[in-house]
Amino acid sequence: MLLPTFLLAVSSPALATRFMASDRRLVRFGPGPNETALVPALTLDLLHSVRHGHDGEAATLDLEHPLLAGLHPGLLAAVTDTTRRGPGWIDMTEPTLPAINEASPLQLAVQSEELEVERRQTATFPTPNAAKYPQLSNDGFFKSVSATKLSSTVATLSNYTTRYYRNTNARVPATWIQSQFTAAAGSGNVVLVENSFDQPNVIAQIPRKAGSTNDEIVVIGAHLDSINQSSSGGRAPGADDDASGIAVLLQTLQILTENGWAGSRQIEFHAYAGEEGGLLGSSRVASQYKSAGINVRGMLQFDMIAYQINTKPVITILTDTSSGLQTFSNGLITTYIPEATLYTNRCGYACSDHFSWDSRGYASISIDESGPSDRYLNPYYHTSGDTIDRLDFTKASVFVKLALAWALELSE
Ligand SMILES: *[C@@H]1O[C@H](CO)[C@@H](O)[C@H](O)[C@H]1NC(C)=O
Ligand SMILES: *[C@@H]1O[C@H](CO)[C@@H](O)[C@H](O)[C@H]1NC(C)=O
Ligand SMILES: *[C@@H]1O[C@H](CO)[C@@H](O)[C@H](O)[C@H]1NC(C)=O
Repeated sequence: MLLPTFLLAVSSPALATRFMASDRRLVRFGPGPNETALVPALTLDLLHSVRHGHDGEAATLDLEHPLLAGLHPGLLAAVTDTTRRGPGWIDMTEPTLPAINEASPLQLAVQSEELEVERRQTATFPTPNAAKYPQLSNDGFFKSVSATKLSSTVATLSNYTTRYYRNTNARVPATWIQSQFTAAAGSGNVVLVENSFDQPNVIAQIPRKAGSTNDEIVVIGAHLDSINQSSSGGRAPGADDDASGIAVLLQTLQILTENGWAGSRQIEFHAYAGEEGGLLGSSRVASQYKSAGINVRGMLQFDMIAYQINTKPVITILTDTSSGLQTFSNGLITTYIPEATLYTNRCGYACSDHFSWDSRGYASISIDESGPSDRYLNPYYHTSGDTIDRLDFTKASVFVKLALAWALELSE
């Protein structure tokens, strides 16, 4: 949980500009009260470039570099801990900026009582029930699951030179995702949530069915940005990381809308910007939902799902997340996806966008092809080698089934 004093420290008007990206950023690199630092954005860029060692190589950092003078030793330790995946820190600057587009009509109509942080521990989730959901079968929605369509989405997204959130063309992939979400859900059900940098989050909703008064929301997310760890302008196809997650979101939305599914609860699909910059877009969305008192029943993140080098498809549940959602998701996999091998692994601090929800007291989980300290981890991520030809969309199709089962069973 974030300390209020910590938030107050950045509520000065000087920070409330769109130029924050070239200024100092407030980052949190661990859960403790002191694990925060105010650092120049350029220092973060430098840290990004050495963040990940691959194939067991340690990250190398020139400690004499002037940008590292006075760097908090805890942040340095977090950055050089190669067992972590994802940025390893949260950039807390973004959620403290004022809303850029107040006109985000999707959610703000849906209000409820203040959430309690303990909620994620006490929330209960259903026991998967195949008899109740004939749609979740090969004669039902699973018939529409298409490896070819997953591949086609990843082909488009990985074809941009980079989707880096501070690139001049950072908005273009977000706009493309918006067009795809709109084609599936209708323009009235898609919004952009702007950030201080020029790459918005894209959100699509499937409204709850007529007559339902249940104000809970079910969220499925992935991140739309990519990164080349050695050069911010360099080639960063990000086919697996995380065009593959976005492809699952889009296809799940398409199948649900084509079949006219509406649950008692609203379902939302969140394509987040700037994950690689410190969970920027998801922090912004989660903090807006939190301050609007929006009741999120559960949040599921897909981050890298299509690098499948085993004989059978692998699904890995990260375990330092909501235990209730782990039990629920585990049950879905054994019930609906018996062809998959199930593994578990740990996320570590701030490994992906579900963490933005977890740290605000929402039940959340990340389910991926592998975990950060896993021998099946994609060795090409964050490099120009994270390309589509290394992915297996037939095996990755199990994630669409999982998303469909998750959406149906939690929204009903
Ligand atoms: C952590 O912060 C508290 C309160 O600001 C301070 O009293 C304490 O000395 C700090 N501890 C460390 C290890 O820096
Ligand atoms: C990739 O980009 C090139 C050049 O802009 C374009 O001609 C091609 O159609 C694109 N391919 C895909 C799959 O989007
Ligand atoms: C980053 O991009 C450059 C230029 O496209 C490329 O030469 C370099 O290998 C990339 N870095 C990584 C880590 O892939």
